[in-house]
Amino acid sequence: MFDVITLGSAVIDFFLATGVHERRHEICYPAGTKIAVKDLRYSTGGGGTNTSVSFSRLGLKTAWLGKIGTDVNSEVILKEMKKEKVTFLGSKCEDKTGISVILDSEEHERTVLTYKGANDDMKFSEVKLNKLKTKWFYFASMMGESFKTQEKLAEFASKKGIKIAYNPSSYQTKQGAEALKNVLKNTEVLILNKEEAQMLSGSGDFLKKLRELGPNIVCVTNGKEETVVYDGKHKYSANPHDFTGKERTGAGDAFASTLVAGIIKGESMELCLQLATTNSESVIKYYGAKNILLTWKAALKELRKNPVKVTKEVY
Ligand SMILES: Nc1ncnc2c1ncn2[C@@H]1O[C@H](COP(=O)(O)OP(=O)(O)OP(=O)(O)O)[C@@H](O)[C@H]1O
Ligand SMILES: [Mg+2]
Repeated sequence: MFDVITLGSAVIDFFLATGVHERRHEICYPAGTKIAVKDLRYSTGGGGTNTSVSFSRLGLKTAWLGKIGTDVNSEVILKEMKKEKVTFLGSKCEDKTGISVILDSEEHERTVLTYKGANDDMKFSEVKLNKLKTKWFYFASMMGESFKTQEKLAEFASKKGIKIAYNPSSYQTKQGAEALKNVLKNTEVLILNKEEAQMLSGSGDFLKKLRELGPNIVCVTNGKEETVVYDGKHKYSANPHDFTGKERTGAGDAFASTLVAGIIKGESMELCLQLATTNSESVIKYYGAKNILLTWKAALKELRKNPVKVTKEVY
């Protein structure tokens, strides 16, 4: 029996420190030139592998359901999952394993170019349902055929009494609440950023409106600004620390998975929010989406050193 099975993508992230400056929220590359990149780093990424490693390090028995190719990148990913004690429940196909090229500007905002490849190709018929013995599913963003599979797994979960945590990306939320309703109506915890929250809920009080779509607990992050959680009775608010990190890729995955890990472990919402903030900040401090995801003990220690203030009000 797993504590959590994550459903989400796997990619190899290539981080290129371009040295190019941002201008008016754009990072421009002159056509017809060569740019000597200052630095290159690569590591595994994608919502599925990032969050499963996060859950595993936080002490949960974790499996990952995803789709990869048969290329060398797929081997790199499987090796890492094994090292991190994450069980692979997915499958392989002829398409390439996904990759992301992350073009970092001098100001540390970035443009991400992603080839989804195998990630979009998970068919429900190839999921081994009898292996999905778990208390929770964590759904990262899935596209194409894999989204259809996610919808069917949401239905499967509701029949089996498996709780769902859902962290869609803007690719999904821009399609609107109607397109996601089969997942949302079975979701226990919904985590998204403010932009995504507004896309799904339209104008008005997005916390209340999002909750009406199905989820019991709604969490809305907003980069370095205030994070809020609403559970139908109380609104909790936390402020991230003001600091300049190295690279923000993986912040959202670290945050959402840690919040959900706390909820799975039955911790108070205050502590869940604090640890999620601490773990996402730890990831922002370094290059790489899993770098450095903390263990439960290390996260508690870091939180004691650098407290996160959470307020609670009736809402
Ligand atoms: N610049 C920052 N400074 C401090 N904390 C940050 C910063 N950016 C993100 N975080 C932390 O990470 C959490 C999630 O970040 P954010 O709201 O950017 O998610 P996201 O847009 O879903 O990210 P992603 O693109 O990784 O999916 C925030 O709630 C905050 O705790
Ligand atoms: Mg996100």
